[in-house]
Amino acid sequence: MRSRINSDNTSGASGSEAGDPDSSKLHVAIIMDGNGRWATSRGRPRTSGHVVGARVVRTIVENAESAGIGTLTLYAFSADNWKRPTREVSMLMRLFRRYLLSEMDRCVQNGVRMRIVGRRDRIPVELRRTAETAEETTRDGKRLDLRIALDYSARDAMAMAAEKCGGRPVTRESFVRAMNEVTHSGPVREVDLLIRTGGEQRLSDFLLWECAYAELYFTDLMWPEFTPADLVGAVREYHARDRRFGGVQATVAAAG
Ligand code: FPP
Repeated sequence: MRSRINSDNTSGASGSEAGDPDSSKLHVAIIMDGNGRWATSRGRPRTSGHVVGARVVRTIVENAESAGIGTLTLYAFSADNWKRPTREVSMLMRLFRRYLLSEMDRCVQNGVRMRIVGRRDRIPVELRRTAETAEETTRDGKRLDLRIALDYSARDAMAMAAEKCGGRPVTRESFVRAMNEVTHSGPVREVDLLIRTGGEQRLSDFLLWECAYAELYFTDLMWPEFTPADLVGAVREYHARDRRFGGVQATVAAAG
């Protein structure tokens, strides 16, 4: 395993704050892209891609812990996704609520703690209430921290955090705390591995601070095609990478 050579970074985000399930396990973030293209290429409406995508979310969550993941952050809806057709947005909001309602008990049984990361003032009130219930019901989960990013924008989070810190001396730690508060995220962890499906290679305003040293993994698979075996493959590739966080390998340092 080569990927944890020097993890002494000082972003203010960490894996060791109270409330994290197990900081020795990975924080994996996923941009679940390609639902729409997957559906239209099969002559189906885009929304049917989201329905299949939600099933894939379930299988990936079920297999995350055994893949060595302690925190899984899924990009479900960005602040820019409000620009989509109203029908698609409403369908997604209903789908997120249905997912939370149907998965809550299973999460309790499997030790999964759910948290919704993002703004809460623009999503439908019934979704917000369900999200709060899901968070409360699953709060004791210790095996996997499942974070669903909903109405999320990393740049908005940073701007709001800066505003919150306004006038006070700011450290990385206090800034991150302010970001946690504005996004309701709980203790923020560095992302170890960021996966994006759907063939595009960009971050799309997702966890920009937390991904400072994330390993990036892009796949042409559309999200509805992504399987637990693909997740394991991405994690395996992560472990084969050489993470130096701006430093050098210990063996190179010892050699002067
Ligand atoms: C991006 O693909 C996907 C979304 C904006 C929605 C993500 C939603 C899900 C994966 C399903 C449900 C999620 C949860 C957490 C229950 P796209 O539609 O933009 O695909 P495209 O790029 O092919 O158009």
